[in-house]
Amino acid sequence: MNSDDIRGSFLNFFSNHGHKIVESSSLLPDAPNLLFTNAGMNQFVPIFLGNYKPSFTRAADTQKCIRAGGKHNDLDDVGFDTYHHTFFEMIGNWSFGDYFKKDAIEMAWELLTKVWEFPKNRLYATVYSPSPSDPSEFDQEAYEIWSKIFKDEGINPDTHIITGNKHDNFWMMGNTGPCGPCSEIHMDLTADGNTEGGLVNKGSPWCIELWNLVFMQFNAKPDGSFETLKNKHVDTGMGFERVVGIFAKTKNFSDFSQLPSNYDSDLFVDIFDEIERSYGKKYRGTIADDRNKMSTTELCDFRLRAIADHIRALTFAIADGIFPSNDGRGYVLRRILRRAVMFGKLLGLPQGFFSKLSGTVIKKMGNYFHELIEQKEIVENVISNEESAFSKTLDRGISIFDDICKKSSTSIAGEDAFLLYDTYGFPLDLIQLMASERNMTVNVDRFDVCMDNQRTMARCSQKKSVIEISDVSSQKTNFVGYDLKNVESFESTLTSVIRHDDRCFLTFSETVFYAECGGQVGDHGTAKVGDKIFKIVDAQKDKNGCYLHEVDGDIDEKMAGEHVVLSVDKNFRRNVSRNHSATHILQYALRSVLGTHVKQAGSYVDDKRLRFDFNAISAPTVEELNKTETIVLKKILECEKANIYETPIENIPDGCLANFGEKYGDIVRVVEIGNFSKELCGGCHVENTSEIAYFKIVSCSSVAAGIRRIEAVTGEAAFALARKNYEIISNQCKLLNCSDDELQNKVAYLIDHCKNLEKKAKSAHQIELMNIASKISKEIQTGTPEIYVEKFLNNMSPEDLRTIAMKVIKEISDGTVVLSSENDGKCSIVACCSESAIKIGKHAGNIVKEIAQKHNGSGGGKPEFAMGGYAVVKDKIQRQD
Ligand code: SER
Repeated sequence: MNSDDIRGSFLNFFSNHGHKIVESSSLLPDAPNLLFTNAGMNQFVPIFLGNYKPSFTRAADTQKCIRAGGKHNDLDDVGFDTYHHTFFEMIGNWSFGDYFKKDAIEMAWELLTKVWEFPKNRLYATVYSPSPSDPSEFDQEAYEIWSKIFKDEGINPDTHIITGNKHDNFWMMGNTGPCGPCSEIHMDLTADGNTEGGLVNKGSPWCIELWNLVFMQFNAKPDGSFETLKNKHVDTGMGFERVVGIFAKTKNFSDFSQLPSNYDSDLFVDIFDEIERSYGKKYRGTIADDRNKMSTTELCDFRLRAIADHIRALTFAIADGIFPSNDGRGYVLRRILRRAVMFGKLLGLPQGFFSKLSGTVIKKMGNYFHELIEQKEIVENVISNEESAFSKTLDRGISIFDDICKKSSTSIAGEDAFLLYDTYGFPLDLIQLMASERNMTVNVDRFDVCMDNQRTMARCSQKKSVIEISDVSSQKTNFVGYDLKNVESFESTLTSVIRHDDRCFLTFSETVFYAECGGQVGDHGTAKVGDKIFKIVDAQKDKNGCYLHEVDGDIDEKMAGEHVVLSVDKNFRRNVSRNHSATHILQYALRSVLGTHVKQAGSYVDDKRLRFDFNAISAPTVEELNKTETIVLKKILECEKANIYETPIENIPDGCLANFGEKYGDIVRVVEIGNFSKELCGGCHVENTSEIAYFKIVSCSSVAAGIRRIEAVTGEAAFALARKNYEIISNQCKLLNCSDDELQNKVAYLIDHCKNLEKKAKSAHQIELMNIASKISKEIQTGTPEIYVEKFLNNMSPEDLRTIAMKVIKEISDGTVVLSSENDGKCSIVACCSESAIKIGKHAGNIVKEIAQKHNGSGGGKPEFAMGGYAVVKDKIQRQD
């Protein structure tokens, strides 16, 4: 069986057992704080937590996963062994409160041993047995089920069931969320298959985990406790590439003489074939026993495996709208790509090899994952751009790295590593990998210091830097200003006055001013201290959560400790809130129109407009933007209520959007608008969408590869825009004496008419120029090399003079023609010399230069033609025509 057969057979088996076959969810996860979709169960979390009830209780699928960061990170093993990947497919089946351990284990056994005919005595099961501080208890139920199965097969359960503690047999997606004990199926791949469980969970490639059956029973809480779930569920996941690799290498279990490798399956061979065909680099499949001591062939095979793995990760991620960038998951992708490009370089592969390989992946995988075919162009373009950008600094970086290694044989200084990172774009993990190939380490602590210094410098160079109050003890300020009813005449105490450069900031014991955060600008308003009113022009938060209110002007430090009355500019706040709520509705609308892969990539809201950046594979069309705008307007007209509340992070409602990269605490704030938009957000919002009043997209542009920016206005600003546009149109209608319905046709007619008139005028002008030229030529009749014609013409542009001069020279064949004309306060000169005139020493450039210089002007050119000019002093010009 090849990969397509195996995937099909798996899904078919579970479909026959009443499972709904669902699609893989995107690699871009919905869960906050998750880098990439890293397990089949990610899309089912709301079901496990009881927040969502699906119409089916059994499901199966193949899920695209990336494990390259966070709790599950396999990047560091990729290429070194035969069975870890950044990107892989996890095939799995689920029960949502339906069957539990017995059916899950029995179905797994049936598929493996009866349908796929895995040799039974090579299979081992692991069962949860907690260590003293681990949650829950020994999984007696799973143990008994396995015990019966093995006994019935005539296999000794004592050797074929292995127990493991929380580390190996308790599965958690992250530190919090649904989890439970698990039972894994491992396979002995040794030649004789008689290791009696001795290699299970020992990190040996000769005995690997195939399938993980998780019995979801708990919800891990942020405080470390485990809450029992209302219903019990099953979540299984099998490493697809591993199974395909075993089938391939053992020739359907008939030959265990060699170590099976995922890379020997049809999922990877096309990639290696392409590299060999195009660049002559052959993959030989060798694996080093010790990754620090690789032979040349082993090093080459390691790099080829990493390249083959990485191109799959990049291709799939980009097709799901995740692009390489400088932070968050985008930087993880960039690191993976740069590793591959570097490995290619070290293998002597030419620039562009990596983006080309994405075509091979798409060809192989596109039949099942159609998004790859749909996004082919963008995938290739993004990889190609990234590859060529990194290649620009790669050679130099490698030679700097070599020089650095000459300085010491044991360790690379943090400063040197930072230079490679900052100037040559080498990710730290890549530098570490390159160093380890030479048995060297990197001083990561010093690297971190350099990184921090650079960040501080970058912060300082930003105009709107958040000041650090190192000399004042900065404490978290209590913000009580979400409710508009509270934000005027709020009584507080002025706790300190801080001067920073030429700016002045106030801190209060409590505040109603929103400090800039999450893309929303800080509030404006006033602070009344004694009988003096100070204007607050901004509010920022420092790293401790202390609110710094910037005052327009200065305030005596001695006033600290005084009673203060704070008033936020309500109109300002209302406009900002309109824009903020509109960004949420806009995100909903974009996801409805363009697809749920759309995610916020940044936003900015102030009182005048909103800016929303999102990932989009291609530019939205005008129709898509119109549709989006209409959806937002409809939601405004439907007067949907906003429901804003705080909740523990594990209770966030199903479908709630969060921004990756943002750090969420245990308690999060949910902003629900109607029942269509749910986002984690700490910003200010309208109570009802009708307050937004109006919404208008004013632009949609590209800000980075795969990132689009929509700018829009709401409320007052949208009215002002509508009025301005209305006035422009009605003024034009008045000018053109037409109705607004006729305006477009009328303007089109006028443009056309003008073009025709211009054309006619141009040809009439050309005729006039030709006539002038003919008149001059006739005066001369026959030209000779010595003939010198100098004429002054009226109101001619330099171009006109040139046309006439060329025509005269052509008509008289020989001689020198010098024309000048005054136009717009400037006198232009052109000179033309025939070939024979040049032969006797005439030189158009010199003639023009001489005349121009006489009048303090400039000019010159070639012997055959030259132009120049000078400013006109009226009474000195002698008219010669
Ligand atoms: N969630 C489990 C895993 O990822 C089983 O699907 O291993």
